[in-house]
Amino acid sequence: MKASINPSILSADFVNFEAEFETIVGCDQVHVDVMDNHFVPNLTFGLQMVSSMQRITKRPLDVHLMISDADRFAPDYAKTGAYSVTVHFEACSDPALTAKLLRQNGAKAGLAIKPATALDEILPIIQHFDRLLIMTVEPGFGGQLLIEETLAKVAAARAHFDMKNLAIDLQVDGGITADNIGRVAALGANSFVAGSAVFKASDRNLEINRLRDLATKHSH
Ligand code: DX5
Ligand code: ZN
Repeated sequence: MKASINPSILSADFVNFEAEFETIVGCDQVHVDVMDNHFVPNLTFGLQMVSSMQRITKRPLDVHLMISDADRFAPDYAKTGAYSVTVHFEACSDPALTAKLLRQNGAKAGLAIKPATALDEILPIIQHFDRLLIMTVEPGFGGQLLIEETLAKVAAARAHFDMKNLAIDLQVDGGITADNIGRVAALGANSFVAGSAVFKASDRNLEINRLRDLATKHSH
């Protein structure tokens, strides 16, 4: 399976998004981390900014909402034309309904879980979604080390999708580097968010290709 590499613009220069987007144009999707200083202790940007990014991006936007009351706000992000919108299970009161509204508004629906959330909690509703995002760090900041214990969920989710014949994107986010991406791909992830690993590279498109090749080579 060809791996998808989604650079997180959390590591980009926030006053130069247009130029920054150009440096990652070889990516599969652009990962946009929306944070509200409530669900996570960090603040990035909101709906207006994501709408503006839609006008400058050449690649599909993968919007990761780290916001409270996600049911209420998520559909508006789908309306911006984003390719996908991912909400946190911990921030939703009716995740299945939110998935339906995201799809009705033209976006793929993603469900994210924090490191402490068990896979068993979301498996009964995952068939409503197009993507499962397993956080491999505590959400909030880029540049952290991958939490090894989260990887058991990646393998278990892949086994579940295979068993139930579910074509759901399995995404990991946090601490992904060239040193661990092959190993995580072998466990069954097919979509990889990488912030600092891409943005600190001297040639970001080259690094994206290297990550994609490593992941595809080891893919499940
Ligand atoms: C963390 C964000 C990630 C983050 C990843 O809350 O969801 O997308 O930017 O950054 P790295 O790859 O540096 O861990
Ligand atoms: Zn993210």
